[in-house]
Amino acid sequence: MEEVLGSERMKELVEQAVSIPQTEEEVVMYEYKGVMYPMRLCTPSLLQAMETWEARPEDIFVVSYAKAGTTWIQEVVSAIANKGDLEKLNKSHTFFRVPFLEFKFFMGSVALQVPEVHTIVDKMKSPRTIKSHLPGHLLPPDVLEKKARIVYVARNPKDLCVSYYHFHIMNPQLPTPKSWNEFFEHFYTGKITFGAWWEHYLFYWNLRHEPNVLFVKFEEMKKNLKAVVEKVATFLGYTLSDDVINRIVDHCSFASMKKNPMTNPDLMFGVAQKPLDPQRKEKAANDGVTLEKQKQEKGAFMRKGKVGDWRNHFTVAQNEAFDASVQEKLAGSGLTFDY
Ligand code: PPS
Repeated sequence: MEEVLGSERMKELVEQAVSIPQTEEEVVMYEYKGVMYPMRLCTPSLLQAMETWEARPEDIFVVSYAKAGTTWIQEVVSAIANKGDLEKLNKSHTFFRVPFLEFKFFMGSVALQVPEVHTIVDKMKSPRTIKSHLPGHLLPPDVLEKKARIVYVARNPKDLCVSYYHFHIMNPQLPTPKSWNEFFEHFYTGKITFGAWWEHYLFYWNLRHEPNVLFVKFEEMKKNLKAVVEKVATFLGYTLSDDVINRIVDHCSFASMKKNPMTNPDLMFGVAQKPLDPQRKEKAANDGVTLEKQKQEKGAFMRKGKVGDWRNHFTVAQNEAFDASVQEKLAGSGLTFDY
């Protein structure tokens, strides 16, 4: 762990930030300006502080709705910003190379107790690479005013829903869904962590012609990752050789990212793995089940990485209702998806 995170202290800080004793009741959700947030991820005061947070014109933001392919595109962006220097990339976790702006570990109340990381984002050298799931109306206005670059990734909302469902099962910061049907309903109505997916998408989609905004889709990354790496590099102003581009493509494949401890976020969830329900937990303890085994039962962050897994979850009725809703929500926007 020490080797992977860079220092024993960093491990302690991550544990402090995310490993709060867990029972389902402790996942406190609140609503901020129409969007639901889990207290474990960020506090209302942190979201309020975003209103005056200062961006830099050189900043590179990776913005997305959760589960849209954030970690994937952030690794592409980080690899480009580091000109494909894999040795450098593999020295620190993507979690630290591209810190999550509204996560309290980096900016908020937990971090306030550990001064050396309070300003982890503020202390980064330019060009900073920063991740955010903030919807447009909660994004610090200075990001748009300073015309910082934004790489936005979107994913077809059916696969988004499925990936998000599994993430709720494994992530201790999020409430555990009672069932797939209940989760589907919450996602469908937008009454869910990070709010309505269509509002998130449309805000950034409507900015797609701005010179400082690049809108990419998960499905196009699946189809031709090299083309997307080239497009992102051009957008960010990097001229990279074909060798370097190929190296980045290889580094960012699903298989490489899953097996690389510096790109697989399981490490971060490993220190705060959501517990099994009490009965299974007791059984697990009696059986001597390790954290690793527990993780396998709850699922992995790098789960399938595919297009079309929704077919294994949506009922016919859910699919019909969802199609109608997508048509209505995105009507006239020009935003379409491959399923
Ligand atoms: S998060 O928690 O919001 O940051 O999650 P996010 O990174 O946006 O989304 C996680 C899903 O992206 C998949 N993923 C990938 N797919 C293909 N190739 C690569 N390299 C890759 N990296 C991450 C990951 O497996 C999650 O999707 P599902 O469908 O759950 O597997």
